[in-house]
Amino acid sequence: PGEREENETAKGLRVQDKGFLNTAVMRSEITYIDGEAGVLRYRGYPIEQLALKSSHLETAYLLIYGSLPTKEQYRFFESEVMRHSVMHSDAEGFFRSFRYDAHPMSMLTSAFAMLGSYYSEANPSLQGQRLYTKGDEMSLATMDRQIYRLIGKAITLASMAYRVRQGRNFVTPPSGLSYTGSFLYQMDNLGEENYTPNPILEKALDVLFLIHADHELNASCTTVLQTGSSLVDPYSAISAGCASLYGPLHGGANEAVIRMLISIGSPENVPAFIEAVKRREKTLSGFGHRVYKTSDPRSFIVRKTADEVFKVTGKDALLETAMALHDAAMRDEYFIKRKLAPNVDFWCVVLAWFPSPTNAMTLTPTFFAGGFPLDFFPVLFAVPRVVGWLAHWRQMMLQEGGVKIWRPRQVYVGSGKRDYVPVEERV
Ligand code: ACO
Repeated sequence: PGEREENETAKGLRVQDKGFLNTAVMRSEITYIDGEAGVLRYRGYPIEQLALKSSHLETAYLLIYGSLPTKEQYRFFESEVMRHSVMHSDAEGFFRSFRYDAHPMSMLTSAFAMLGSYYSEANPSLQGQRLYTKGDEMSLATMDRQIYRLIGKAITLASMAYRVRQGRNFVTPPSGLSYTGSFLYQMDNLGEENYTPNPILEKALDVLFLIHADHELNASCTTVLQTGSSLVDPYSAISAGCASLYGPLHGGANEAVIRMLISIGSPENVPAFIEAVKRREKTLSGFGHRVYKTSDPRSFIVRKTADEVFKVTGKDALLETAMALHDAAMRDEYFIKRKLAPNVDFWCVVLAWFPSPTNAMTLTPTFFAGGFPLDFFPVLFAVPRVVGWLAHWRQMMLQEGGVKIWRPRQVYVGSGKRDYVPVEERV
């Protein structure tokens, strides 16, 4: 190391923790995970109870504000979220400016950032640095508005990305439908006046949204907080989180799972694939988790939900390959030793993550198993996760003592001081 590269203001021990294996950057009251026991709780409530009894929007309220809403609070929250699902018509031009084959996650990530340009009231650098202050009614109301807008518009932006890919006209968000009902309507309606989403799929999607709403400080949530810690507007922070989620080690894993299953093709090819994974030539997408060292508790909920979905969509052709892959991996010493179990992405994709819009089968062969196109899967993860990102963002903005900008340190291992050599003298 060179001279005095250690910052003299940094006190104490500096640890290098690659991948943040053991570094806590927040105290949080939102989500509890016990990865060894396979426990997941939102604000103390077991995920299984919420999946059975609550709804995505009620759980969103719980995650963001800390307690289950009263009837009145819920009615207000739901109506604000749904009211804000309508997008300015300018956004149509924005979506149409993408190439016909743009990945929907690229569109969604850009769309969240674009959204910020409409609401300067949310930007602390324009409105004064301490825009969101605990105990200040005005600033809390401003914060709430951004929360309603982001949750409400997430389904609309996602369905615009979908419709532009399908070459369809955009539709105005309907009134009187649930959050997932409106989402299905906006995706699927080809102009029918009396379109109603299939209630089984609407409910299944709601459960899937609920179990994806938060998962504490994963890569995307950390990115939202890191970005938000500079006091940027929440739209930009959510856009950054969305970009992080897109990667195949995180939310992009669901798309990777299905591509993997298609490439394996049938159960007899599974043993060769497993051997290739063990030789590290391939990745078994949908297996392994930084925190869970046993089965992801959400996967049980997904499997149960799937039974309902299959009644509507019929069984997936690649299900047998997936089951063979699952069974082979769970028996294999390589995976047992490393405590690698299926994560939520594996089962969501295989079993139920893509409940079919009712008429999707007739539309295009790129639909998989009568459901959504492959590259739309990460979007179906990003939309509900907006809730968790916002819950953590709000908690950070209102924390005791205010926000401290996230500025990690490094362990410098580069050259010591060197003198500049003119180009003619370099050898
Ligand atoms: N297939 C094969 N081997 C694996 C897998 C896998 N899917 N996941 C981990 N391993 C192996 C690693 O090679 C490593 O082996 P080694 O000790 O011999 O080197 C060991 O298991 C430990 O794995 P790490 O990579 O150190 O675990 P980490 O916590 O850093 O990564 C991750 C977790 C990124 C999820 C990893 O398991 C993975 O890449 N899985 C596949 C992608 C995936 O499904 N991502 C979705 C995660 S869930 C979510 O975001 C919703």
